[in-house]
Amino acid sequence: MVRTWDVSSIPDLTGRVAIVTGGNTGIGYITVRELAWKGARVYMLSRTEARAFTAIEKLKGELAPDVQPEIEYINFDLLSLRSCKQAAEEFMRREQRLDILVNNAGIMATPYELGPDGIEIQACNGTGHFALTVTLLPLLKETAAMPDSHVRVVNVSSSGYAMASTTKPDFTSIEGLNQKTCSTMQRYGLSKLTNILLTNEVQKHFIESGITNAYCLSIHPGIVATELTRGPSQSWPLLATLSKAAPRLLKTPEQGALSQLYAATSPEVEEKDLKAAFLFPVGQLKSKNSLAEDKDGKLGRDFWSLCEALMQEKA
Ligand SMILES: NC(=O)c1ccc[n+]([C@@H]2O[C@H](COP(=O)([O-])OP(=O)(O)OC[C@H]3O[C@@H](n4cnc5c(N)ncnc54)[C@H](OP(=O)(O)O)[C@@H]3O)[C@@H](O)[C@H]2O)c1
Repeated sequence: MVRTWDVSSIPDLTGRVAIVTGGNTGIGYITVRELAWKGARVYMLSRTEARAFTAIEKLKGELAPDVQPEIEYINFDLLSLRSCKQAAEEFMRREQRLDILVNNAGIMATPYELGPDGIEIQACNGTGHFALTVTLLPLLKETAAMPDSHVRVVNVSSSGYAMASTTKPDFTSIEGLNQKTCSTMQRYGLSKLTNILLTNEVQKHFIESGITNAYCLSIHPGIVATELTRGPSQSWPLLATLSKAAPRLLKTPEQGALSQLYAATSPEVEEKDLKAAFLFPVGQLKSKNSLAEDKDGKLGRDFWSLCEALMQEKA
């Protein structure tokens, strides 16, 4: 039976600091709202300043008069490793702690295109969040050493990661990462696989650093009516017309955000020791396929090394 969990179960987050990437719309917007509602200071990391400020004003309106939310903005573009690293550095200039990092921003099924660093733009769902997270790791570890800390890193993946198994994932070169000859949905699957591989590797990093109270998880939000259809509409214009009928069949953003809100805040994550877990809505532990399980760690290490090398060159 699918269990029920809702935002009323989120504990008090007063004094905690959170980052949500891509929080200006979709399930990220709801994630910002609910974390701020519970008292966290929330940083919205978004690529378009005007969209971010419009969203922050709307959030303030929705939360008033009960809450005067603390919502901040830092510019962040997944397509640029330098932008992601700089966003992390700017955050660390402003804050002494980071309790919750929700790596949520993403695109799906866009036509093949290279970003400014020569990385295919869907692959940037993975590489951009690598650059952000790895730059923030020292602060995450410092926060985990603080009294009463509950550090969480949540990578928003997708059940679609399984489409990567129809390719031959090879993260030893940028060509392998870009996968020019794959279909756009296979490339999306690969990017969502890298979100899970990052989860595994960050969790290992915490454990090897002797940190047992910091949790890194990946989640699938469900199939949710959001602006994620912008990519498919570009790849298959006919779909834009058909998808107008779809929202009624899909989860609302409020429902879709629950999975990441659970992973970011629920005490059950610690009680059940959900390290490097992959969760389906809501809080359901899902087994990973062999690529994502990555038992010998090779795929994850290759992805990590490639991103590090790209960062050396581009960031
Ligand atoms: N919706 C679903 O059914 C579904 C299912 C499985 C997984 N997911 C995952 O859920 C996450 C959130 O998606 P959503 O459904 O809420 O989609 P959405 O409404 O399109 O929101 C995506 C967010 O990511 C941001 N973003 C996209 N490209 C970016 C870039 N280059 N730099 C910085 N931010 C960027 C967008 O910013 P702009 O507004 O500026 O474009 C937006 O804030 C994604 O990672 C997606 O893969 C969604």
